[in-house]
Amino acid sequence: MRVLIVGAGGREHALASVIAKSKDCEALYCIGSNAGLEEIATTAAISLSDFPAITDFALKNSIDFAVIGPDDALVGGIVDVLEAKGIPCFGPTKLAARLEGSKAFAKEFMKRHHIPTPSYQVFTEINEAKTYVRTCTFPLVLKADGLALGKGVIIAQDLAEAEQTLDSMMVDAVFGNSGKTVVVEEFVTGPEVSLLVLTDGTVVKPLVSCMDHKRAFDNDEGPNTGGMGVIAPNPFYTESIAKTCLQRIVLPTINAMQWEGTPFMGCLFFGLMLTPNGPVVIEYNCRFGDPEAEAALTLLEGDALEILQACRNKSLGQIEVACKDGSACSVTVASGGYPVSYEKGKKITISALPESVTIFHAGTTLKDNGDVVTSGGRVLHVVGQAKTLKEAISLAYEGVAAISFEGKQYRGDIGKKALPEEV
Ligand code: AMP
Ligand code: GLY
Repeated sequence: MRVLIVGAGGREHALASVIAKSKDCEALYCIGSNAGLEEIATTAAISLSDFPAITDFALKNSIDFAVIGPDDALVGGIVDVLEAKGIPCFGPTKLAARLEGSKAFAKEFMKRHHIPTPSYQVFTEINEAKTYVRTCTFPLVLKADGLALGKGVIIAQDLAEAEQTLDSMMVDAVFGNSGKTVVVEEFVTGPEVSLLVLTDGTVVKPLVSCMDHKRAFDNDEGPNTGGMGVIAPNPFYTESIAKTCLQRIVLPTINAMQWEGTPFMGCLFFGLMLTPNGPVVIEYNCRFGDPEAEAALTLLEGDALEILQACRNKSLGQIEVACKDGSACSVTVASGGYPVSYEKGKKITISALPESVTIFHAGTTLKDNGDVVTSGGRVLHVVGQAKTLKEAISLAYEGVAAISFEGKQYRGDIGKKALPEEV
């Protein structure tokens, strides 16, 4: 089988790495590139938004199966385009990807189907939005409707900040069309869980639960990022909470998407918050999380290609999807200054790694002279896998210590709040 991966970040390197190990994978191709992908795939420098060029590439290389990584390609409808040309894909159609592509759609969908989510109002008129926020209590959550590179959620602490945010989203259009519609949402609290499930539209197989660390600096300080580290499983996601979430959130979502005539096939990511009143959905993502994928795929048992194909072929019920025992910890190593501004082109060296440590490349480039240099904000994801969470964390940090480049930045406390206090 000839497999194409669309996308070239840490998530896609993790997907490529597990797929490359499949007994059925004869050849692996990738749209986009990094130094890790170069080692295991034939890469093509094609823009992820150029669907005709991606389709041509897939047809020329007789691709049997395409796995789509990034949200913007999915929301833009790449699966519909490739499938129309006879190329089977792993990932949702454009209509199903609206769960991530439009927060207003997602909220209205949840309301229609009684799926627990914080209360909200949707606005397309700035004056109506401003009148409404004057009646609200703070903090208050303001969300740009569309994709905004992970920056479209603002937690306004007071009325002035809320009005300013509405102006920048709806009038100044800092997120372009994505912010023309705004969701104003109730602020809720509790531990967050990233839950990734695989589905063929009907059958659901959850992957290991994850805990992301979104803020740039230790103790959850600093700006939001794409993700500075993940531990899995998430200790807050107990068996009984998992059961509740499956019954009240996951299955109702999958069933309702099917009922509405837009079945969701692929990996559906539930951003959950375990509030004092029970678990609620704070977001859906229509794809593997990044860096959740790096940890969850490391703990996935079995043949990944076979599992992803079973989603596409509506046969997920016929195969087992299991997670390895133990824990994984993924620490993101970023460029100095990320996520605000950073330099690229810093030479990376990696000394000997302990066994059970895997490095997934994100923003790296292999130069003609063989050097590997930084080429993005998030550079490498270092995953430790072990019997216990504590060992997994310490292995990941041994891996981080083996990496050198100028400006290397990472959080030192990934997983700390999941470990019992040491005395
Ligand atoms: P998102 O981009 O939707 O993942 O949101 C980014 C972060 O904003 C989430 O990880 C939460 O920490 C926070 N957040 C989103 N919605 C809410 C909410 N209704 N109440 C409190 N925090 C929220
Ligand atoms: N790590 C969160 C995301 O992928 O959106």
